[in-house]
Amino acid sequence: MATSSSSSTTTFALALFTTILLIGSSSAQLSENFYANKCPKVFYAVKSVVQSAVAKEPRMGGSLLRLFFHDCFVHGCDGSVLLDGASSEKIAPPNNNSLRGFEVIDAIKSKVEAVCPGVVSCADIVAIAARDSVVILGGPSWKVKLGRRDSKTGFFQVASTQGVLPSPASSLNNLISSFQAQGLSAKDMVALSGAHTIGKARCSSYGNRIYNDKNIDSIFAKAREKNCPRTSKGTPKDNNVANLDFKTPNHFDNSYYKNLINKKGLLHSDQELYNGGSTDSLVTTYSNNQKAFESDFVAAMIKMGNIKPLTGSNGEIRRHCRRPN
Ligand code: HEM
Ligand SMILES: *[C@@H]1O[C@H](CO)[C@@H](O)[C@H](O)[C@H]1NC(C)=O
Repeated sequence: MATSSSSSTTTFALALFTTILLIGSSSAQLSENFYANKCPKVFYAVKSVVQSAVAKEPRMGGSLLRLFFHDCFVHGCDGSVLLDGASSEKIAPPNNNSLRGFEVIDAIKSKVEAVCPGVVSCADIVAIAARDSVVILGGPSWKVKLGRRDSKTGFFQVASTQGVLPSPASSLNNLISSFQAQGLSAKDMVALSGAHTIGKARCSSYGNRIYNDKNIDSIFAKAREKNCPRTSKGTPKDNNVANLDFKTPNHFDNSYYKNLINKKGLLHSDQELYNGGSTDSLVTTYSNNQKAFESDFVAAMIKMGNIKPLTGSNGEIRRHCRRPN
């Protein structure tokens, strides 16, 4: 009798211990089915808003994809990029007058709150919206890992720190090390850069390249001068935009890499991926093999989405993406 009771006590203690361990580990892990019971309607809610935003303006697909990147690289994928206010990342130099799509995220959030109030984080919404954008513009699909929670503050200083969000003036080594600092490889970096198959950049981001770089097709450079004159610095013309992929700017394909091989990368940092260095061969592979690009891009997006998420009881589920609860 005594033996049986002590063994059942032991069994109970073991079960409790295992449960605690499981809770501890599963809370630190994102999963594809996180909302399967909690909010299965989240996927339709996000997709429908992204769909109409991209139908209205195809560039928005690029803007939403970039939001995810800039969220994840600053203090992890925690929705911190969406916050307004004093410590807002939006006005840090790499983002100011550049990052877009916040109203679309707001519209998604209100639709999601209407079906599942207080359940879905802003960080997860950004991750799903990035995937949907890629799919809607003709790119690959994947199952997004979910379960991120939202930060309670923005990280202006981190977002403003040189090299955290890589600048368009970066060298190949700069690019590799800024991705390495986030646990991403050079291969991940080259695959993720294929995101520049959609969207636009400002004259202030590519002006130096078209006037000063040697590794640029001269006709391509010339064609961009009119909209981005030498004298644009500090003028409204700084904000004039050009397509990152001049060929098929609204289609998620591998033409970004083909452009690099023809010295028609828009940003200095783009062309660094194909300029006689260690990543040339990967650029060649992706330029010839859309499937290889797609599968490496998807793998790298999932990896990027895993950068330091807040899980368990860390952070919160924001009610409004622009402010903490
Ligand atoms: C490899 C390092 C990268 C650098 C140096 C870089 C730099 C830039 C710059 C300078 C712009 C234009 C901003 C402007 O002029 O307003 C831009 C736009 C964009 N970036 Fe990147 N980027 C990088 C990687 C990525 C990654 C990893 C993604 C997503 C996976 C991404 C997605 C985009 C998109 C879609 C746009 C267009 C946004 C729009 O039209 O609103 N970029 N990037
Ligand atoms: C952001 O851009 C605005 C408009 O150009 C400018 O007035 C402001 O000083 C910038 N903010 C920061 C923090 O650089």
